[in-house]
Amino acid sequence: ENTYETILVRREGRVGVITLNRPKALNALNEQTMNDVVAAATELDRDSAIGAIVLTGSEKAFAAGADIKEMGSKTASDMYREDYFAAWDGFARLRTPKIAAVAGYALGGGCELAMMCDIILAADTAKFGQPEITLGVIPGMGGTQRLTRAVGKAKAMDLILTGRQMDAEEAERSGLVSRVVPADSLLDTALEVAAKIGGMSKPATQHAVETVSAAYETTLAAGLQYERRVFHGLFSTKDQKEGMAAFAEKRKANFSHE
Ligand code: CAA
Repeated sequence: ENTYETILVRREGRVGVITLNRPKALNALNEQTMNDVVAAATELDRDSAIGAIVLTGSEKAFAAGADIKEMGSKTASDMYREDYFAAWDGFARLRTPKIAAVAGYALGGGCELAMMCDIILAADTAKFGQPEITLGVIPGMGGTQRLTRAVGKAKAMDLILTGRQMDAEEAERSGLVSRVVPADSLLDTALEVAAKIGGMSKPATQHAVETVSAAYETTLAAGLQYERRVFHGLFSTKDQKEGMAAFAEKRKANFSHE
């Protein structure tokens, strides 16, 4: 499975683990990394034996941003023609729950990649930021939109306009990350959370991802309507019958992910 240049991929039970692996560039996200992550994550997403995906980096850096050296000399017309960053949409859209396990730097595109995941777990060493303003540009992989929705306008403007870094504690307080854990237990915690999610009915977790994500993109009335339709629709799955029968029979559900 490790046919990728810039990432490592492994499976642990129902969890797929993708590790960004460009240590010399602090996991800066170049085009190759984008293609590798999207391809690997898409394959895991389609596999019914996989119920959750963990995306992580190194101790020092989750990812220090898009690759500045690759971008630096491009023209606006290059960027438009290549639709630079557009392929990341393919990662963000995947419905298998994605957990970003962040230690060290998650800057620029690194922070934005973490925000494309459904849950962010942070090591106490994590540092989040959108430093693009210091490079004479703005975030381009979703930062102006996803960060604002995650932490609110005040904090998002502060971070995006100053380019400053936010530590793990501030990130948790702001609602960007769901938990902060000691750096040496980050991966174990991420694998534990992912295994727990992976043990649930995959159709149910995927629909949960889709419906919660819809809360970002729609009105309350439309979102509630969507939720109700999805909730009703899940009664067509074997897992709903199994989950509710198991409760009544006082046993653990054995989901078939159908
Ligand atoms: N792109 C390309 N290379 C990068 C990189 C990036 N984003 N971040 C780090 N690197 C490279 C460095 O150039 C350096 O390479 P060399 O050894 O060949 O010089 C190597 O990784 C190690 O980095 P440093 O020596 O700088 O490490 P440090 O510990 O002194 O500093 C850091 C760490 C503060 C994270 C610093 O590397 C840094 O500021 N990186 C850039 C952060 C940034 O601006 N990110 C935003 C990128 S733009 C973007 O992401 C656009 C978008 O919206 C998608």
